[in-house]
Amino acid sequence: MGRLISFEGGDGAGKSTQIALLATWLREQGREVVQTREPGGTPEGEAVRNLLVSGAKHWDGVAEALLVTAARRHHWRQVIEPAMKAGRFVLCDRFSDSTRAYQGAGRGVPRQVLDQLLELATGGVLPDLTIILDIDPQLGLRRAARRQDSENRFEREAIEFHQRLRDEFLSIAAAEPVRCVVIDASLGIDAIAEQIRSVVKERLL
Ligand code: TYD
Repeated sequence: MGRLISFEGGDGAGKSTQIALLATWLREQGREVVQTREPGGTPEGEAVRNLLVSGAKHWDGVAEALLVTAARRHHWRQVIEPAMKAGRFVLCDRFSDSTRAYQGAGRGVPRQVLDQLLELATGGVLPDLTIILDIDPQLGLRRAARRQDSENRFEREAIEFHQRLRDEFLSIAAAEPVRCVVIDASLGIDAIAEQIRSVVKERLL
């Protein structure tokens, strides 16, 4: 059986850089790796992502949660489960903790509703390991603003919104220390990558 590693954190925490570095390292260790993201990971999921993150239109929190859950269900069945069955390491840029942070803490959807939706999407299965890249939202948003893309609906939210997301990621990590590891994302790229490799080595290899 393979392993699912999710990467979480606020906007601009540097997840994609770290996922690429870990993927390269795991391949050097002889592992097969699948890199993917949520919402997304399939053409259908990418279409849902586009609905969620682009443009000015505003879904409410429940509608957002339903959208990401539909994409997650499809992604789980089409990509993640088959890869795990084939013994691969799946590195996923965001997963269910983002739903708890953005739709739960951010938009106010009750925890119990989100748990039920996760049950529908994955049967309640969570990642084997979750790397939370923790960053002060002021710094994260400054970094994210430098990127040239149209995925900025959440980046336009007030700083208090992003502070709630950060607090939620930290409280998930505190409640589930066996699954989650918090890493200080204000450190340099190499220092963060080294910490991630050592956690993966210790817990999953
Ligand atoms: P991501 O590509 O990680 O954006 P960024 O690199 O800017 O952090 O994720 C896309 C957006 O999708 C992100 O702003 C958060 C949002 N999202 C949710 O609101 N709920 C979810 O369950 C997931 C997986 C993502």
